[in-house]
Amino acid sequence: MMYIIMLGAPGAGKGTQADILSREIGLPRIASGDLFRQASEEGTRSGLAAKSYMDKGLLVPDDMTTKMISERLGRPDCASGCILDGFPRTLHQAEVLDRALEEQGKRIDEAIYIEVPDEELVKRLSGRWLCRTCQTPYHATSSPPETPGRCNKCGGELYQRSDDRQETVRERLSVFFAQTVPILDHYKKQSKLIRVNGNLGIQGVAGAIISALKASLPS
Ligand code: AP5
Ligand code: MG
Repeated sequence: MMYIIMLGAPGAGKGTQADILSREIGLPRIASGDLFRQASEEGTRSGLAAKSYMDKGLLVPDDMTTKMISERLGRPDCASGCILDGFPRTLHQAEVLDRALEEQGKRIDEAIYIEVPDEELVKRLSGRWLCRTCQTPYHATSSPPETPGRCNKCGGELYQRSDDRQETVRERLSVFFAQTVPILDHYKKQSKLIRVNGNLGIQGVAGAIISALKASLPS
């Protein structure tokens, strides 16, 4: 059983690394942003409400977010663990998650913080393309798809996120520093924080994450 959190600024590589780790250790990747985008594409009331915050680069309110994630974590595929990508993002969310897991005799094992300089984040987000079907991220120069415009895994159509516009990216970054950075301390106090240099190639970062996890988890 293993519950892992991926932390990092917008564009740090949470989705990319959670996807690699998910294949490596066989646990599902649960991405709050993907769940909100899916709900907004489906046009549900909560999906459209979430979109109004996402398009401004703001966080979706805690109550909507924790409700959505609790429902997702309650599904059978998460019973023996998962990799959380993009959740928690506020101290309140981190505390709710700790309590919810504790009630089931579970806990977060590690929180991986991928550190990347701001100027690199902006470059990554402006070149990002995502699969509309399976959400796999690509990058125009650092990880282009084999066939332009198509996902390597499922052949789905690639698109650019509406919140990757420059002004929205700036807002997302400032929200990250104000609301999410404080939770690093929460996991540090629990001796669960692993800091990884995210300013390497994708495989280099993946290798660093896997060796840090091997070093900190009992085999
Ligand atoms: P979310 O979807 O979580 O977006 P984010 O945190 O802003 O992060 P990104 O998905 O943009 O970046 P990433 O770290 O996953 O990077 P990626 O791997 O794609 O959230 C979106 C919105 O939803 C929020 O703004 C908020 O409104 C709402 N939301 C979500 N969760 C919430 C919560 N818990 N509470 C409240 N609101 C919430 O990589 C980026 C690009 O870089 C890709 O093109 C990739 O190919 C490339 N790349 C990755 N790694 C490398 C590398 N090592 N070298 C070179 N290129 C790389
Ligand atoms: Mg992501």
